[in-house]
Amino acid sequence: MSPGTSVPFDRAAEVYDQTRRLTAEASAATTQLLRTELEPRQPCLEIGVGTGLIGLPLHRAGIRLIGVDLSAPMLAKLVEKAGGRPPFPLIIGDATRLPFADDVFGGALARHVLHLIPAWQGALRELIRVVRPDGVLLINIGFSAGPWQEIGDHLDALIGETARRVGLDVNRGAELDEAMAVFGARARELPTVWQESELTMEQYFGEVEADVFSWTWNVPPDLLTDAVAETKAWAAERFGDVDRVLEPRFASVWRAYDLP
Ligand SMILES: C[S@@+](CC[C@H](N)C(=O)[O-])C[C@H]1O[C@@H](n2cnc3c(N)ncnc32)[C@H](O)[C@@H]1O
Repeated sequence: MSPGTSVPFDRAAEVYDQTRRLTAEASAATTQLLRTELEPRQPCLEIGVGTGLIGLPLHRAGIRLIGVDLSAPMLAKLVEKAGGRPPFPLIIGDATRLPFADDVFGGALARHVLHLIPAWQGALRELIRVVRPDGVLLINIGFSAGPWQEIGDHLDALIGETARRVGLDVNRGAELDEAMAVFGARARELPTVWQESELTMEQYFGEVEADVFSWTWNVPPDLLTDAVAETKAWAAERFGDVDRVLEPRFASVWRAYDLP
């Protein structure tokens, strides 16, 4: 895959929901949060809808949704979860070239997608084009800060250039705010959704080594194995027993952008 290409999730479709772990409570809180924003602004678009972790509950909560994703296997998983039929229109497509006319949606959402798209500013331009003036874009890019971030940084330092980081840096909400401000969009941070977690370091390292996360998909297996072993030893010294839950909860933050 060339450096200018987005990262589709074909290979993750079967394990995505189990390894991304959205608890029922966090899912319900997220649906409630997004529904409040989207209900008055329908129909809505989700780019990178994936297996429908966010889109399916929103649809069940009455939001009229259209989903776009590059990955047919991820969309197939969504359809399977919905009982075998597409619960709402699903399109295999690229967020940087949306197959819609201008101003056809009232709102749009993107969760954990912009970090996979090298031309993420192009995806923003497309979202702004297809969402009406006075509409809203809801974007969740952040992952965890704190100890998990430290562990990620340690791994990154060891696997270096081979780590596949192609799009918006997930820890740079400010960069997203700046890019949106160019379009005249005003940022609001929505109330944080907290999610309980039982993830241990041991489990996490196992998943990293099993190539569950997209940023390892270019890393040579031997390099990854060595980096995990070294980081595990470092983490045991820094944080203690690798079999304990590292953080009992983590934050999920959505940003809302009101379009002019
Ligand atoms: C990490 S998953 C997130 C799925 C879903 N939004 C969620 O929160 O569970 C990212 C999804 O974005 C899709 N994707 C990556 N680049 C894309 C692009 N340029 N256009 C549309 N979808 C894209 C991937 O195929 C994958 O299904």
